[in-house]
Amino acid sequence: MDRLVVEGGRPLEGTIGISGSKNAALPILIATLLTDEPCVVENCPTALRDIKTTVRLLESLGKRATVDGSSVRVESTGSLKTQAPYEIVKQMRASVLAAGPLLARFGLVRVPIPGGCAIGLRPIDIHLKGFEALGARRIADQGDIIMSAARLNAGPLRLRFPSVGATENLMMAAAATPGRTTISGAAREPEIADLGAFLTKLGAKVSGAGTSTVVVEGRARLKGARHAVIPDRIEAGTFLIAAAAARGRLRLTRADPAHLEAVIDALRRTGAAVKTGRGWIEIRMEKRPKPVSIRTAPYPGFPTDLQAPWTALMTLATGFAKVRETVFENRFMHAAELARMGAQIAASGATAVVAGVERLSGAPIMASDLRAGAALLIAALAAKGRTVISRVYHIDRGYEAVEKKLARAGARVERQK
Ligand code: EPZ
Repeated sequence: MDRLVVEGGRPLEGTIGISGSKNAALPILIATLLTDEPCVVENCPTALRDIKTTVRLLESLGKRATVDGSSVRVESTGSLKTQAPYEIVKQMRASVLAAGPLLARFGLVRVPIPGGCAIGLRPIDIHLKGFEALGARRIADQGDIIMSAARLNAGPLRLRFPSVGATENLMMAAAATPGRTTISGAAREPEIADLGAFLTKLGAKVSGAGTSTVVVEGRARLKGARHAVIPDRIEAGTFLIAAAAARGRLRLTRADPAHLEAVIDALRRTGAAVKTGRGWIEIRMEKRPKPVSIRTAPYPGFPTDLQAPWTALMTLATGFAKVRETVFENRFMHAAELARMGAQIAASGATAVVAGVERLSGAPIMASDLRAGAALLIAALAAKGRTVISRVYHIDRGYEAVEKKLARAGARVERQK
């Protein structure tokens, strides 16, 4: 298993190009199940494990997917299967997004219920209630959920919480269901807006994607399309926070600053100078960050996926900062590992209080999940001395060639096989 060896304490200086968004590419690739015509999805982070798993999911359901650089061409090979294999769903929870397209098109789908994961219980009740409101019946059988419907009926839906995955699943189901479906209480993430744009290219009419009310006019038959995925705002946010922690001057290209307002605002309050323009963000940080407390919230709030990186930054602040996690139940796994580097964090329930220290020191540490891994990498870049991060496969789920990109900004990060 790979490890990352980081010689920390060097400022980041240089330019990094941001990849396409993992969390936008996943549902868009899965939405190709809605049509038999060919689709091409460009600007996909195809080096990521989760994208490879998605390609395998599409193939296991009967599509042919060809990866060429950062684009994925998806074609049909005949009829699709309506059963998602457990072996793939257990590796990637987002596989449940195949339920919406398959149920709407074939009136039947069988998917394993994904278990909890390192960051929380992560039930799928909002997805299932939505399908039921569209007329599907649900039965559970041997750890799988089977949903069936002679046909789905378009109609109004209200979500009890703006779940990103449920909004996407229901938008896809609605796209292949003739009539008008209105989803109120929808998630407003930029990835939802991107999925809406793709579904519109397929021939559904989607309005309001990216607001709390999404209206989908579905069609029985959808066509093929070509689409370029939006930039990864979480990758961009991670590098900005890394530059604030390690100091220096970093420019991000192929990034969209409009998707990072809450994060850029928090970074400015730490004392970082952040400039933005069309497709780029630049950060300059010369001193220790001022403490800035944050509370995660669905978009446009501070993203839960940058909570762990923010906690890592605050370990170096000139005072106390409070970090509150409101989206997932158990997302402070990085606190104990950061403590091994000299951080002072008291985490209890949904809140961590971080007392900034002048310096972290390198240590052997272990990534427990994707964003906790990103937090450890940030701490390692800022720390004095050498840090060895194990279980790097967690980081590889969400960051393409992370060591190469950081090396372009002068960091000393080496991958050991
Ligand atoms: C998406 O997960 C992202 N994943 C996550 O990114 C991200 O952390 C999350 O949205 C929140 O922004 C993808 O897009 C593939 P949710 P998702 O449904 O869709 C509860 C990363 O690091 N909930 O909005 O699974 C749930 O338990 C990852 O890249 C229910 O209770 O998130 C959680 O507490 C991790 N019932 C909260 O809502 C449901 O039916 C938010 O979940 C669905 C969700």
